[in-house]
Amino acid sequence: TQPIILRNLAVPRFFGAAANTSWLYHDKNYTEVISTQFSIFTPENEMKWENIEPEPDSFDFGPADEIVQFAESVGAKMRGHNFMWGNQLPTWVNSSLTATELDKALQNHITTVMDHYRGKIYAWDVINEMISDNTPNETFKDNIWTQKFGEEAMPKALTYARAVDQQPKLYINDYGIEELGSKSDTLYSVVQGFLRDGVPVDAIGFQCHFTLGQVPGTLQQNLQRFADLGLDVAVTELDINLDGPGNATAFAQQAKDYWTVVNACMQTQRCVSVSVWGVSDDHSWIPNGEPLPWDAEKQPKPAFYAIADAF
Ligand code: XIL
Repeated sequence: TQPIILRNLAVPRFFGAAANTSWLYHDKNYTEVISTQFSIFTPENEMKWENIEPEPDSFDFGPADEIVQFAESVGAKMRGHNFMWGNQLPTWVNSSLTATELDKALQNHITTVMDHYRGKIYAWDVINEMISDNTPNETFKDNIWTQKFGEEAMPKALTYARAVDQQPKLYINDYGIEELGSKSDTLYSVVQGFLRDGVPVDAIGFQCHFTLGQVPGTLQQNLQRFADLGLDVAVTELDINLDGPGNATAFAQQAKDYWTVVNACMQTQRCVSVSVWGVSDDHSWIPNGEPLPWDAEKQPKPAFYAIADAF
């Protein structure tokens, strides 16, 4: 029998993973899985501001280039991640710049990085996690961007990105927006406003960091309403945290949860990709959560077969 290759089953959609240079080429079994199963990659940390522009106008593209070259070598696309986020910023950005200086730094950052990767990035997470967790009282997260630019923060980043390169899809990416609810309603109105005002945005990324048994029942309906605005949608950072012991019951429920998410994407015509946030449980950002489709030995878990089934 043929081996199961998820990237083939996903066509015409992409199946992706967060890739990490700590293990790429250094962990043999990780490298084998990541070389065969995926058709799109997101650098887990390598393109974040603190890593790619640690000092003003001094760029370190090395680790991110490694992932981009790897993706090219296996015929996979790239998602760039990310430009405007409150986390993983170097101190020089996150401290004492005036609004004018920060504006210049943002434009220079977006321009330099997008120029460097021109022609190599399918989609950019221009915006990451900018919607408040305290909606509807508050619309935007409190971070350096909203402190300096207020509601102009997101439009600035999106406008700068579009001006550099018209090719990549420009994404707004967030968590907690997967279900119909206050946070996704807030994003929905923000995006409607952008479309009305001509602020460039092509797509919404739904991170989908879920806990076992808690995939929202309204996920598909919610993906569809954003798609109905004329946008692409994507599952960008899927993982299912067991949040408890890894026994057969838990892995079976985890498989169901993965199926539900992948199926929601399959039922949405504008859903272009499903990406998992990592590959194997031993290299996940969630310690002991066993949240991924491959176990620490890089063997496929029930979740892997459920993804195959849903695609
Ligand atoms: C996480 C990485 O996986 C970790 O290695 C890092 O220490 C912190 O960031 N939402 C995002 C991702 O958009 O960039 C985050 O990645 C996980 C949550």
